[in-house]
Amino acid sequence: MENFSFYIPTTVHFGKGQIANLSASIKQFGGSKVLLAYGGGSVKKNGIYDAVVAELKKVSIAFVDCDGIKPNPPVEDVNRGIKIYKENACDFILAVGGGSTIDACKAMAAGVCYNGDVMDLMAGGKGEIKAAAPLASVLTMAGTGSELDMGGVITAGEDHKKHTIMHPLLYPKFSILDPTYTFSVPEIHSMAGCFDALNHLIECYFIAGSESTDVQNMMNEGLMRSIIKNAPLVLANPQDYNARANIMWASSMALASFQFAIGKKGSNWPMHSMGHELSSLYDMTHGVTLALIAPAYLEFSLQKAPEYTWLFANFARNVFGVIESDDAVAATKGIECLKEFTLKIKMPKNLKDAGVEESKLEYLAAKATEWGNIGALCKIEKEEAFEIFNRAFA
Ligand code: NZQ
Ligand code: ZN
Repeated sequence: MENFSFYIPTTVHFGKGQIANLSASIKQFGGSKVLLAYGGGSVKKNGIYDAVVAELKKVSIAFVDCDGIKPNPPVEDVNRGIKIYKENACDFILAVGGGSTIDACKAMAAGVCYNGDVMDLMAGGKGEIKAAAPLASVLTMAGTGSELDMGGVITAGEDHKKHTIMHPLLYPKFSILDPTYTFSVPEIHSMAGCFDALNHLIECYFIAGSESTDVQNMMNEGLMRSIIKNAPLVLANPQDYNARANIMWASSMALASFQFAIGKKGSNWPMHSMGHELSSLYDMTHGVTLALIAPAYLEFSLQKAPEYTWLFANFARNVFGVIESDDAVAATKGIECLKEFTLKIKMPKNLKDAGVEESKLEYLAAKATEWGNIGALCKIEKEEAFEIFNRAFA
């Protein structure tokens, strides 16, 4: 197993009514004037906004709203938040929403402490994060794991490229995870969130070096199983508390300081790199992009990295319960099971059905690999990415 450091400073308050911890927790981290950030209005319709505001008012914590943060959050929303924070002399950021709101808030938290363009602070940028405002989250939809990690994804530029911001200072100080808050998430976003979390686990499972990481692999398999079991339960009954709770906690655990990628050889998150380009070009929902890419990517990787057939076979047997003694046959069956699962949770059948134009596949492949090889088990450069997009097309 490779060396690693593991660090998660976020306190999680999980369960019904845990919003009651909000004010004391904000005060614990010195918050007296809160930038209250949220998305396009769902929190006003489902009562979460009112619940948050009631808690703040109980102990007279002042707040100023930053509303309208869009999915696949654009840097313009981040800059708007930075401006409101500074103009109102805020000292704490509270994200109430899903990954988009939390990610935008992470970038705001770094941006308010930086004298320059917040884009400098993205991975590969010329700036350095040396300080960040304290931030916390009230999670309203499960999937990304942003509530328990130190990263965020921000859309910027004419090509709508998705950039990553990442720093230990960007871990939320605390996150409130009330599964009942996710009852109102529309079906498509609920299922996309499930697949996003599952895909984080898949990205971390299929990495070179997995031959030595039994702990990571076996814990990961259990989490994958829990998502595969509970996603259809959420689909059947969006108000199934335990199904929502298991999905919520599985999503948080799926990334959590990249606990299932540590000790391995490293990955450039190939499925995410390709999926992000679909979001950039078509503003497609993140989890949907991954459901479209994952089976084709795995099929390709199995072919190009046959030395990992055993890992694909483990995936088939330990995650999907495939009974098959031949590793190669089991490996292929596991990928078929994954494809079936995407259809069961109502993800689009292929890129074509999702509205992607065939003429754009080469562009997508070039963009996904513009910063170099994105492979995890085998090399994935433009040519390979193009082949994967083609396999996923129809
Ligand atoms: O904007 P509102 O009105 O709130 O509606 C949202 C949005 O339309 C709605 N929603 C959320 N909670 C709801 C609800 N509707 C009703 N009831 C509720 N309780 O759901 C829609 C999607 O929300 P969004 O926050 O965009 O979804 P998600 O949580 O999937 O976040 C996606 C973003 O996270 C990034 C993605 O790239 C994408 O930009 N990711 C962040 C990661 C991280 N920080 O670690 C890792 C991921 O791999 C991912 O890249
Ligand atoms: Zn993701």
